[in-house]
Amino acid sequence: MKNIRLDSADRIGQHAQNVYQQVVVTRQMPMNNASGITEAERATIARWFLAGAKVD
Ligand code: HEM
Repeated sequence: MKNIRLDSADRIGQHAQNVYQQVVVTRQMPMNNASGITEAERATIARWFLAGAKVD
């Protein structure tokens, strides 16, 4: 809807700040938790972002 694609490592890297915001801070994503993400997976995304959001 916002024309953001997360289907490659480079694109995820470009949107890292927004992914962190949506998944860890506001928890708006995944929408209605449609994909059943776990707390451990949110914590993994938090660690990834805080460690520099490397995608290589
Ligand atoms: C871990 C999985 C997901 C991540 C990292 C993610 C990430 C994001 C991000 C970064 C945005 C942009 C938000 C903004 O700029 O305001 C977004 C928007 C959106 N996502 Fe997700 N998303 C995920 C899963 C999902 C799923 C499973 C759905 C649908 C069932 C979904 C539907 C949407 C929709 C409809 C928008 C646009 C919302 C709006 O216009 O306010 N996302 N998502």
